Amino acid sequence: VGERPGSVALLGGGVIGGGWAARFLLNGVDVRLYDPDPRAPEVLAGMLENARRAYAKLTLVPLPDEGELHFTDTVPEAVAGVDLVQESAPERLELKRELLAAASRAAGASVPLCSSTSGLRPTELAAEVTGPERLLVGHPFNPVYLLPLVELCGGRATDPEVLERAGAMYRSVGMEPLTVRTEIDGFIADRLLEALWREALWLVHDGVATVQEVDDAIRYGAGLRWALMGTFLTYRIAGGPAGMRHFMAHFGPTLQAPWTKLTDVPELTPGFLDTIVAQSDAQADGRSIAELERWRDDALIAVLHGLRTQGAGAGATLSRWERSLRDGAAPAEGSGTGDIPLRLIAREIPAAWIDYNEHVHESRYLQLFGDATDALLTRLGLGPDAVAQAGASFYTVETRLNHLRPLLAGDRVTVTTQVLGADDKRLHLLHVIARGDEPVARAEQMLLHVDTPSGRAAAMAAPLRARVEALASAHAHLARPAPAPSLASRLAAPA
Ligand SMILES: NC(=O)c1ccc[n+]([C@@H]2O[C@H](COP(=O)([O-])OP(=O)(O)OC[C@H]3O[C@@H](n4cnc5c(N)ncnc54)[C@H](O)[C@@H]3O)[C@@H](O)[C@H]2O)c1
Repeated sequence: VGERPGSVALLGGGVIGGGWAARFLLNGVDVRLYDPDPRAPEVLAGMLENARRAYAKLTLVPLPDEGELHFTDTVPEAVAGVDLVQESAPERLELKRELLAAASRAAGASVPLCSSTSGLRPTELAAEVTGPERLLVGHPFNPVYLLPLVELCGGRATDPEVLERAGAMYRSVGMEPLTVRTEIDGFIADRLLEALWREALWLVHDGVATVQEVDDAIRYGAGLRWALMGTFLTYRIAGGPAGMRHFMAHFGPTLQAPWTKLTDVPELTPGFLDTIVAQSDAQADGRSIAELERWRDDALIAVLHGLRTQGAGAGATLSRWERSLRDGAAPAEGSGTGDIPLRLIAREIPAAWIDYNEHVHESRYLQLFGDATDALLTRLGLGPDAVAQAGASFYTVETRLNHLRPLLAGDRVTVTTQVLGADDKRLHLLHVIARGDEPVARAEQMLLHVDTPSGRAAAMAAPLRARVEALASAHAHLARPAPAPSLASRLAAPA
């Protein structure tokens, strides 16, 4: 898909490196990972399991085949031949400098060298790097496979073209790059978050609030707003019709009070640390990190789905990513009639599709047939963007589905599509899901061409009609399977 890298090197595979690995692999990018800790493969397996589970809920759009994962024993082996290097080692300047320098000597001359650092300046990180014009910060957020923000920050030597290229690669895997134009410690997001974190620590330190109370003060109020609008738009609305100037006049004086502790830091004495740890344990209430991660992921996905319906914030990023996945999976429009019958979908059945029977849930058969129809329409020039422009689309008005054999987790299936017939307004299709050569389910569908503003059936425009006709005649010689018998009508018939 566009700028999607073929392979990336990850240096460090902990919380952040593992999250990067999951995001890239699930977007079809090969990953070469260097981490000296022998437990790294185990940590990564857990992260990948979480991410697969999350993506199965996040989107119905078919994902590309997963990228391949290789662990390497050295930095040069990891970076050889990749399109992007992402360093996510512990937050120690010397360690990062050495790692990035080693990577710079072995990676391709134009390959972006990115650091996940939370706050170290790129110019500092580049001190020993060969070719510092390709070094930048790409600062992500945990969990990297779900949160789209990545802050980009170049150093004094960074070439803006490299920053742009890295941004395009991040965008291709569903992220939202935000360029920090001035090199500062902590960039934009951590500068804000640290201010909040410092105040949170003071509130607990001074006995004003518990860990739980501080978190409640965020999540029941401001935290909900922050998913769709930041501080500035929030306060503009809070100023009412009189607007931002009025808001500033009204609340400006309290800034002088001030309510906050500014940059004072509470001393992290053993007693204070004990308080925080004990209250945090009480808050977790026996839930393990793995349980908390899954709860967090499910709730984040629900928020992202909500935002998607409004085209707001990260929900708009999710829609854009889904469109690019569809476009990437669909053969180029107008590329002739293709295979006969069309082979539009090939994928592995994910474990998350299995119901209590250990078979694939019924709804997923319809999803696969729907995906095949979408892919066919995209091939006919009626992809999601074109539908919005053309004001016309096909609606499915009838589906007759026959199950032939059960599908299981891990099965690799294809969906083939045959055009059985077409006229000015109708398109009659037969889809077959097959495991290898074995048919597993089939569905006949009747699609009606609809003028979307009026919602009424309408004749296809001539160019679309010609493409449909070309497919129908290419498929005319194929065997036309007899309509599947209706088992229900047989039951109802007199003996
Ligand atoms: N945790 C977060 O929320 C977060 C968010 C954004 C950015 N970051 C940044 O990401 C980076 C990594 O943080 P993390 O939270 O993943 O830490 P982590 O401790 O979970 O992971 C660090 C990993 O680096 C590995 N490592 C140690 N020495 C190494 C070396 N020489 N070469 C390669 N790998 C090495 C460790 O074995 C470990 O797996 C830091 O720079 C941090 O500031 C963290």
